[in-house]
Amino acid sequence: MAATAALKWTPAGYPGSELDRAWHQEVRELARQRDAVLLAHNYQVSEIQDIADHVGDSLALSRIAADCAARTIVFCGVHFMAETAKILAPGKTVLIPDTRAGCSLADSIDAEQLRDWKGEHPGAVVVSYVNTTADVKAETDICCTSSNAIEVVNSIPADREVLFLPDQFLGAHVQRVTGRTNLHVWAGECHVHAGINGSQLAAKAAAAPDAELYIHPECGCATSALYLAGEGAVPAERVRILSTGGMLDAARATGAREVLVATEIGMLHQLRRAAPGVDFRAVNDRASCRYMKMITPAALLRSLRDGVDEVTVPADIAERARGAVQRMIAIGRPGGDE
Ligand code: 13P
Ligand code: SF4
Repeated sequence: MAATAALKWTPAGYPGSELDRAWHQEVRELARQRDAVLLAHNYQVSEIQDIADHVGDSLALSRIAADCAARTIVFCGVHFMAETAKILAPGKTVLIPDTRAGCSLADSIDAEQLRDWKGEHPGAVVVSYVNTTADVKAETDICCTSSNAIEVVNSIPADREVLFLPDQFLGAHVQRVTGRTNLHVWAGECHVHAGINGSQLAAKAAAAPDAELYIHPECGCATSALYLAGEGAVPAERVRILSTGGMLDAARATGAREVLVATEIGMLHQLRRAAPGVDFRAVNDRASCRYMKMITPAALLRSLRDGVDEVTVPADIAERARGAVQRMIAIGRPGGDE
């Protein structure tokens, strides 16, 4: 308890210090007392990733939330992820260490906008990326994540119109891979991934001619990467468009010595753990999600100690959203969990 006031975490951490050990012990003890499982997204700060019971992408963490036996889930990620856990596990207490941890992509469409869009395309199947609020999920037929978006869209009969939301870059990627012409894409974006652009990628790729490129499909540079490959500037086999979980699978299997990574920089920690012999470098080392970074070691300790902040979803919304989320976790392979 005494550690809370004095806790001074910096991006460099406090490796091996007394405070570090005290924090670690206290968090684990409080988690035991609360019968809590600690889930952390791949973009969390390294201390949070290292203390969590499970680290993964949003699909893997949703699956764990749905299946875990613990009474409490402490979700070290952003709010829509904790909401998804609550939808899947309504009987459990779901805590988020900082309730302000939102998502600019989830904020790019609300339920009313979606209802209007549906009105323009009667009969269309609505596919929502998991980065959406519970209200939007309640208006959705099937959710997807970056791990399974293509499988989800391919599961829909070819003659049905599809409304894909909210990420335009992921939508463009799905359109490209599925070749579907009846897929309409909402023009939303994540401010972090949209900020990783094609010119940064081209410059980094030119400076590292042997490096593989791992690119999250939310990135503004995903199209540029495919363009560069198409132009022969980067060999196509070096370009991989991957979810955060898919990046970890690829890292474990790669023969490359250097990999350029286009996603939020928290990802580098898991990649370096998964393949210590590989040199992983960020395409844009300022691509940091301020919402993900709101979950600090001190906030996690407070959350477990005080049982805050509890995430709730109104029962009628959860009821309507659950089917869409359950269809998402049933489709595609798990990715990213350690
Ligand atoms: P993943 O689905 O790959 O975990 O990504 C989630 C996210 O928020 C991307 O910004
Ligand atoms: Fe949302 Fe972007 Fe942060 Fe992911 S990185 S949580 S999409 S704001």
